[in-house]
Amino acid sequence: MTSSAIAASGLRKAYKDKVVLDGIDLDVATGTIFSLLGPNGAGKTTTINVLTTLMKADSGTVRVAGHDVATQTKAVRAAIGVTGQFAAVDELLTGQENLQLMADLKGMRSAESKRVVAELLDRFDLTESAQKMTTTYSGGMRRKLDLAMTLVGKPRIIFLDEPTTGLDPRSRRTMWDIIRQLVAEGVTIFLTTQYLEEADRLADRIAVLDQGKLVAQGTPAELKRQIPGSHVRLRFAGDAELGAAMRVLTDFTRDGEDDLVLRVPSDGGAKSVRTLLAQLDAHSIEIEEFSVHTPDLDDVFLALTGRSSTKVDAK
Ligand SMILES: Nc1ncnc2c1ncn2[C@@H]1O[C@H](COP(=O)(O)OP(=O)(O)OP(=O)(O)O)[C@@H](O)[C@H]1O
Ligand SMILES: [Mg+2]
Repeated sequence: MTSSAIAASGLRKAYKDKVVLDGIDLDVATGTIFSLLGPNGAGKTTTINVLTTLMKADSGTVRVAGHDVATQTKAVRAAIGVTGQFAAVDELLTGQENLQLMADLKGMRSAESKRVVAELLDRFDLTESAQKMTTTYSGGMRRKLDLAMTLVGKPRIIFLDEPTTGLDPRSRRTMWDIIRQLVAEGVTIFLTTQYLEEADRLADRIAVLDQGKLVAQGTPAELKRQIPGSHVRLRFAGDAELGAAMRVLTDFTRDGEDDLVLRVPSDGGAKSVRTLLAQLDAHSIEIEEFSVHTPDLDDVFLALTGRSSTKVDAK
């Protein structure tokens, strides 16, 4: 055993002649959160499927919890929990019945399973809806139930495929809190996401997947150093205002698409924004449009690959 919960090397996978994973190496330390970031079709789910024994790689090696996924499938499965991209709850059952079913599948004795099910319902704030059919659950409730089902049996390594896609901001934060709690208990989390912000907030390490290759890997801080920071976007009514602003401001770049726009590097905080506006105000320069822009997945892809993520998607 090493301190790696997950270690993959030279992972390759193709569907017929379409190469989806083209030599992936990754290493996830025990008790940390690793986030695989990528747009639609990048190969995130395929990676999870291979790491969780649901799919065989064409080549390469993977060890999860110290076991080889190809030859020690059972041992790997005993150590992990997987919450897929699409909720695996049975719609004809209630929330409680879904959890009970999981406990039965894990071979838990009845007294223990009752306790575990009640605990999980409570932890995920689902006790009140426990007796309702899951068809009546909202997307966020289903996602929570799905994760609760994954936690039955206390897996030490958990794979979450886009756990917050489609959730509203509040449910997303709830999910983040639950994930952080799990890590505080020593669980290792491997999660995929399309949101740079999510990876940034949660992950100890992030890997960026693009067309089957990891184009960057590192801590959030290391990655952010490679991408342009946040900026304030100023749009002026005409050339006169624009020209005046260019004389007043010391640090800015032009926008590639809109001639009347300047981008001013900024942390986006209230203080620096106020200073910037006061500076323009002092010269009576009117701003037509104003917005604070924080880097998103597109900026990451543009910086790392020279292409936007939507162009990857179109392929
Ligand atoms: N069973 C399959 N047969 C053929 N091609 C597949 C199959 N599963 C996935 N693919 C293709 O492999 C590529 C990667 O798919 P994958 O589901 O891993 O992407 P993803 O990063 O999870 O995307 P998303 O964000 O949309 O979930 C896609 O181009 C997809 O069309
Ligand atoms: Mg997917």
